[in-house]
Order: sequence, then C-alpha cells, then structure tokens
Amino acid sequence: MSIGTPLSKNATRVMLLGSGELGKEVIIALQRLGVEVIAVDRYANAPGHQVAHRAHVIDMTDAVALRQLVEQERPHLIVPEIEALNTAVLADIEQQGLATVIPTVKAVQLTMNREGIRRLAAETLGLATSPYAFAGSLAELQAAIDAGIGYPCFIKPTMSSSGKGQSRITSADEVATAWDYAATGGRVNQGRVIVEGQIDFDYEITLLTVRARNADGVIETCFCAPIGHRQVKGDYVESWQPQPMLPLALERSQHIAKAVTDSLGGLGLFGVELFIKGEDVWFSEVSPRPHDTGMVTMASQRFSEFDLHARAILGLPVDVGLRDPAASAVIYGGADSKQLRYEGIAAALAVPASDIRLFGKPESFARRRMGVALATGADIDQARERATLAASLVKPVSDDA
Ligand SMILES: Nc1ncnc2c1ncn2[C@@H]1O[C@H](COP(=O)(O)OP(=O)(O)O)[C@@H](O)[C@H]1O
Ligand SMILES: [Mg+2]
Repeated sequence: MSIGTPLSKNATRVMLLGSGELGKEVIIALQRLGVEVIAVDRYANAPGHQVAHRAHVIDMTDAVALRQLVEQERPHLIVPEIEALNTAVLADIEQQGLATVIPTVKAVQLTMNREGIRRLAAETLGLATSPYAFAGSLAELQAAIDAGIGYPCFIKPTMSSSGKGQSRITSADEVATAWDYAATGGRVNQGRVIVEGQIDFDYEITLLTVRARNADGVIETCFCAPIGHRQVKGDYVESWQPQPMLPLALERSQHIAKAVTDSLGGLGLFGVELFIKGEDVWFSEVSPRPHDTGMVTMASQRFSEFDLHARAILGLPVDVGLRDPAASAVIYGGADSKQLRYEGIAAALAVPASDIRLFGKPESFARRRMGVALATGADIDQARERATLAASLVKPVSDDA
C-alpha cells in the first residue's frame, strides 16, 4: 500500500458519495493521510464539501450523472456515505475495473433496503432478529400483524434511515396512519414497509466492527468497545462508550457482528446495531460505514471510527483501543433557518473535558442534527452528564431576516 501526492498524477483519489457530518469526518481523516478527496452530495455546501479537494452536486440515484462523474474524476475508491445511490451503476463501474466500491457492491446493495439485510441476517445466516414481515399495501400490513407480529410493533419504510417514516403502534386503529406515514416518509416511495414485533430489550448497542488488513496483509475483524445509545422516534440523541455488558452478551454480539460483516465482505468499518436483554442478543441492522452513534469515538478512542474507516479502506492496519469513557449528545437546529448562529459555545466548552463539532450545514430545521457535544469522564455516567450539559448550553439562533 502506498499513497501518492494529492493533485498530482499519482494521487490516491477517494470519492465520497454523500458528504454529511459523517462523510466530513471521513474526509478529514483521509486528508490527514494525504489522500485526494472528492466530495459528492445532492445539495451544495454540504458539510463534507467544505473540507474536500473538490465538491460536486449531483443526484446520486441518477445512473447517467453518477457514471459521468466517476469517469471524470477517476477515483480509486468510491465510499458511500448514504443509502440512496444507483447501485446498478456502482456494480458496473466495479466490474469494469474503474474503481473499488467500499466495502463491497453487495454490502451497499443489501443494506440500502431493509428487506435485503434482514433476509440475509435472519434467513441466510440464521441470526436472531425481531419477528418481521414485509407488506406492499395496508391490507397486507394488517394481515401480517394479525398473523402473528401483534402489538406493539414498528412499521418502517424499507428504504429509509434515521427514523424517517417510522412509527411504533400499539393498536389496530393506528395501522392506517402508520402505513400512510411510512409511504410518505421513505426516501424513495416504494410503497413497501417492514413491520417488526417489538423486542423488549434492556439496552441497545452499536458494535463498531472493522475489517482491515493486519501488518501481514491478511484481513482481520476487530471490534471497538460497545456503544450504548438512546433513540427518540428512531433518531439517536445520546451515545456513550463503553456500554457495560455481561461477558456472554458481548461474546454473542461479536459473533453476530462477525457473521454479518464476513458475509458483506470488503474492507472498512461497519456499525452493527444489536438489542440486548440479559444474555440474549438480537440483530437489528447494520451500516457498512461509520455510524452516527459512533461519533462518541471522537472523544473515547485513540482513533475515531472515521480514522479507522479511512485506514481500513486504504488497506492499512487499525488500532481500535479505547482511551477514556466518553459520551456524545446531539445539538439540534431548533428552528428553520438558512443563517443559524450558535451562541453559548464558550459556556459549553467550559464544561470539563468537553468538546463540540458544528457540522456547518447550510440549512437548519427544528429537528435537524446540526452538531454534537462530546465529553470524557471518569465513567460513562459522568461523561453523559457532561456531554448532555454541553449540548444544552449551545443555543442556536436564526439570523434570517
Ligand atoms: N423491533 C424493534 N423492537 C424494539 N425497538 C425497535 C425495533 N425496531 C426499531 N426499534 C427502535 O427504533 C430505533 C430505530 O430503528 P432502526 O431500525 O435502527 O431504524 P433506522 O434505520 O432509522 O436507524 C432502534 O434503534 C430502536 O431504538
Ligand atoms: Mg438504526
């Protein structure tokens, strides 16, 4: 493995498809290694655009636009940061030897749709998951619930993330509303949903799992310490690391994460979401890329999940060691604005062992994630208190006329 000189003929070029807050940090990690980075998103001035060598705005579901951009930029690696991509074009590009897709085309294809990854985990790999069914109409949805899924249950568009279009319902009179919400809340209105029985878990974790080459060039699987998190309406609000776990629950979690990531293959970091009750573990879903709850690793680990992803995809060895217990807490926009100003930053940073990231998103909405507060502590309780306090002290104000 060697790295060339950026902006010269021998540059090592990486193209990010999706350049939000997670992509931005991956780009910074790549920049530190002297990689030439091309950031792509569907809107201008996305967070990652602001730190890359070049920025492009295209519709990444558009086959012609995506292929044209790859032919123009000739990246060595294509790194998806989002799910809404034209994966058929990515498959063609890889087959023609134009670029390598991270971690693999198969992983990107299976995880872009809840149906692909759920069937792989439950039916092919035989892993424990919530009971589930897929439905293409309100009648099919009701029938699936009546046939055994029952209440409470979760209804989610098959193509969505961050809780979009997702609802938890407890009775039959909520089914129609949940169906309508899923049909309009998905990324791509496919009119197809997954309905899942509720798992009554004690806590949930993200197990960051890295497939990277060791010093001998052999691909190995490494696990970061488990990350605990709290979700509100399917969106993460707070995370911490390390989440204490019973030894058998951790062992089972690693076993599941290994099975899933072995099957998806390639190089890179994955966020494996698991539900835990006592010593029992259920697979929920997986991101073949850094995970939002993993932002805590910017404070807790010697190398953040973004550094680890950058190293792994370049074929370099990783160090997943934990440094300090830490926590992250989300900073929301609080208002619709195209000129948000953040007050209270000094107060937030006066919280002991705290830090913040403001993503620089050009447009804010009330519940849009605009930044994150981080903190370390003697233990996760202290870290959580500090991160939550620091986040609460940042006060977004709109300067829109
Ligand atoms: N079957 C389930 N049982 C219990 N909780 C669930 C279930 N499905 C989802 N949840 C809750 O909703 C959150 C978001 O669901 P998830 O499937 O991860 O959607 P997304 O892809 O939007 O992150 C989960 O982290 C969990 O807190
Ligand atoms: Mg999730």
